[in-house]
Amino acid sequence: MLTEELLDKPKYKEITGVDRRTNLSQEEFLNEYVKNSRPVVLTDAAKDWKAMKKFTPAWFKEHYSHINKNINGVNYNMGDFIDMMLTSTAENPAPYPYNFNVEKVFPELMKDFLPEVIYGKIDRINHKLMPKKLLQGTTVYEIFLGGKGSSFPYLHYDALFMHTQITQVYGSKDFIMYPPEQTPSMYPFEDNPKFSQVNFLDPDLEKFPLFAAAKPIIFTLQEGETLLFPSGWWHTTKITEPCISLGRAQLNGYNWDNFINDRYVNWKKKISIGALPVLAYGKVVGGIMNAQER
Ligand SMILES: [Fe+2]
Repeated sequence: MLTEELLDKPKYKEITGVDRRTNLSQEEFLNEYVKNSRPVVLTDAAKDWKAMKKFTPAWFKEHYSHINKNINGVNYNMGDFIDMMLTSTAENPAPYPYNFNVEKVFPELMKDFLPEVIYGKIDRINHKLMPKKLLQGTTVYEIFLGGKGSSFPYLHYDALFMHTQITQVYGSKDFIMYPPEQTPSMYPFEDNPKFSQVNFLDPDLEKFPLFAAAKPIIFTLQEGETLLFPSGWWHTTKITEPCISLGRAQLNGYNWDNFINDRYVNWKKKISIGALPVLAYGKVVGGIMNAQER
C-alpha cells in the first residue's frame, strides 16, 4: 500500500508549509524533494513556456469559443464560460471544473508547455519504452479554467497513483494539502481509497471527527509558479480570481509499481483478456527504466 510506504519517509510531521525554490539543480530537486516525497513550488520551471503571457481568458475566448464542455448536464461553450469565469463570485461561482485534455482538444498547444518539467531522473511518461496502451484513457496534460469562488471540495489524490504537477499559467490558485500520514483523518471511501468522504468546505465533524484535528498545509500558487507533489498527498483547490492552470500527471521510479498495479486492477474489471500481458510488460519496462536510472 502506497500510504504505508510513504509513512516510512522521514519527517512529515515537521512539514508546516511548502518550500518555494528558484534555480534548483536537478540533483537538489531529486535529493531534497523527489526522494523524500515532499511537495515543492518551483518559481521558475515554466518561465520559458510560450503559454505564459499568451494564455489569457481573452485569448481562449478569441480562439476557442467553438469548444464545448458539459458540466452537470449543462453545455457551456468556451466564449460563454470565459464570461462566467470573469464575473464569477463566491456567492455565484462559475461551474467547475472546466477542464480539457490538451493532447485531445488542443494538440496544437502542446508546444507552448516546453520545456517539460522532469519529476525524477527521467520522464517515464514520455520515455520511448512507455507502452502507449498503458496511458490510454489517462489525461496527462490537462487545462483547467476557473473563476472566483470555484472549488472542487473533495480531498483526493490523483488517479492511478500519478504524481501531480500544476502550473499557474494565468492567475493564482489556493491549495489545501494534507500529508499521507493524515490519511486516517481523511476517511477515504472503502471502495475508492484515493478519495476522501469529507467535504472540506463544510465538513461533517460528527461523522468525521478526526478531520477536526487534521493539519493542512495551505498556500497560494501564484501565476508562473509550478507545484509538484507526490502521489499520496491529499489535496484540493480553491479559486479566488480567474485562473488558468496546466495539470500534468507524472510518473517516476517511486510510483511506477503502484501505477502498473492500479492500471491492471482497473483493466481487469473491464477486460480480463489483455490485462495480464500489459501488467507483465509494464513490470519489465519498469525494470529497464530502473536500471537506466541507476
Ligand atoms: Fe488532483
